[in-house]
This record gives sequence, C-alpha cells and structure tokens, in this order.
Amino acid sequence: MPNVWKPVPHLALSPDEIQRITETVARLEHPDIAPRVFARTMPDAPHWYTLVRHWDDPALFRDTVEVIQQYGEPVYYKRGRYTSLIANGYRYWTMGASPASTILINVCPHIYSTAYDAVAENYDHVYHKPHHQEGDVWIKDQLPDLKDKRVLDIGCGTGYLFDLFTSLRIGNGAVHGYPFRKPEQYTGIDPSYAMLKQFAGKYGYYTDRTINCSIGHYYRTDNLKYDVILGLWGAGSYITETDLIKIRLIAKEDADFIVTAFKKTNKPHVLGFTEPYVAGGLYNLPPTREIGTHLFYKMTLQDVQD
Ligand SMILES: C[S@@+](CC[C@H](N)C(=O)[O-])C[C@H]1O[C@@H](n2cnc3c(N)ncnc32)[C@H](O)[C@@H]1O
Repeated sequence: MPNVWKPVPHLALSPDEIQRITETVARLEHPDIAPRVFARTMPDAPHWYTLVRHWDDPALFRDTVEVIQQYGEPVYYKRGRYTSLIANGYRYWTMGASPASTILINVCPHIYSTAYDAVAENYDHVYHKPHHQEGDVWIKDQLPDLKDKRVLDIGCGTGYLFDLFTSLRIGNGAVHGYPFRKPEQYTGIDPSYAMLKQFAGKYGYYTDRTINCSIGHYYRTDNLKYDVILGLWGAGSYITETDLIKIRLIAKEDADFIVTAFKKTNKPHVLGFTEPYVAGGLYNLPPTREIGTHLFYKMTLQDVQD
C-alpha cells in the first residue's frame, strides 16, 4: 500500500503550543479575518489563498505564517516539499519566505491516504457483524446517557456509535433513534475518508458533524468542552501522549473517557500501523474488560495517567 499516512510522532506539543495553534486555526477558518480567494488559474490543483493585504492586522498575518512554518509538517506535492499546517481537514502552507516577506497563505482540503481506506467498504461486515453482538450490547450499556452530552468520537469510522442505537435488538424490540438531542452535540473525526463515506451513507443527518482528520490534526476552535471522549474498537490505540494533552484542553476535567485499544497480541499493523500508540500509561492500567482481541477502558479523564 503506497504512501500510507501515519501520525507524526515527533510532534510533541505543550498545552501552550496547542493553544497557540488552535488560535491560529480559528483565525484561518474565520472568513472575515482571513478572507479566501479561489485560485482560478490553477484548476488542476484546486485551492484557495488569503492575502496579507486583505487582513486588517498584518502583524496577526505574520504570526499566523510563523505558526504554519514552525508547526507544519512536510507535505510533498509534485516536485515540491511544502511545510503545511494540517488542521480540521485542511492544510495551510506558504511558499517558504520569511514571515515578514510572505504575502499569501494557501489552503486546500487535506487528503489522507490511510490503511483503513482499503477495508472501509466491507468494514462493517467483516469487523462488526456478527462477531461483536455480545460486545455491542455490553458497550452500549457502558455509555452514559448521551442525550445532553457533547461527545468527541475519535476514529468514528463507519459510525459504530450510531449503529449501537439504530440496529441492535435489545430486549423485546429494535432500538431506533439517535442518542443525541441535536447533531451539534456530536463530533466524529477520522483520517479515513473512505470510512467516513460509509458513515455518511448510513447517517447522512450527521455527515456535517464528521471531520476528515486525525486526532492530532483536530483543533476545537470554540470554547465548548466535551463531556465524553470515545475511541471505540481499537481507535483508542491511536491516541498519542500529545493527543491526550489536547484532549484535556477540549474536554471537561471529569469527562468520561471510554476507549478500546487493540491488545498487544493483536496486530494493528495489518492495517498499516506498525505500533499502536498508547495514551499515557493507559496500557499499564487493568482494563475494565477484555473483549476478544480488545481491551476496553471506561474511566474519567482524571484517571488517565500522563
Ligand atoms: C478499528 S477502527 C474503529 C472504528 C469505529 N470506532 C468502530 O468502532 O467501528 C479504527 C479507526 O480509527 C481511525 N484512526 C486511525 N488513526 C487515527 C487517528 N490518529 N485519529 C483518529 N482516528 C484514527 C481509523 O481510520 C479507523 O476508522
């Protein structure tokens, strides 16, 4: 599988740095602060740009360029190598001049190539049906009442969380419906576009609530805090220490942290990842339960060690 994306382990960031990047991303996403122009002369490479002369505050523009250049990662396009800040499904890059001499910032959707792309179409069938029925019922019981909660579903994949509420037969009948009062309560993130495409096919109403990005590239730009952090069926294995610092910044201190990780004997590298990342000391703690090849943890964020 060529060019499979992996999180960049060297990006170890402090809370202040994450905060600075988050503020920069908020700025770049704000149409009044950073107005975008479509690059009409390059239709074969669709992207937008924002010009310093359209910004009210040139110092803010320079600071934005500095953040892109300092915290960006290399992205290769045609013959070029562009230091790009990847955030919330987009990537931002400059042409490499110093912040003071830079006049424009480019932006385009960031396309990941991930190991899950190849299995996405058959994922539900191969991985969830029928093996997990018993685990599904148990996991659903472990979730708090989500009606009024804000939930970040890390590695939401094909929408397993919603599967639990729409297709399971529990007790004497099928349980239908969404677990939330409003879609805005939910954020699902996943770097695999192909997995999200399956999600969209099943739960179109929530498509707007998914973002095609990794947890490392996710920056929540409002001040709302999550009540519940999920990383189900192995997605917990991809949470790095830096991700955990970020999660602490965007979730309530006592947020529920409910994740499953691959057992070390399992082989996530079949899906392109040579090593599962392990948030803090998570694996040093006894899991709440083992389910097949997975370790299930139900804890609060306070219980997760750094
Ligand atoms: C085993 S699947 C689990 C999907 C879903 N949670 C479920 O229960 O069916 C793991 C998911 O994690 C996603 N993933 C991998 N690395 C990730 C990262 N760094 N941040 C967020 N999601 C990631 C994959 O694309 C994949 O969809």
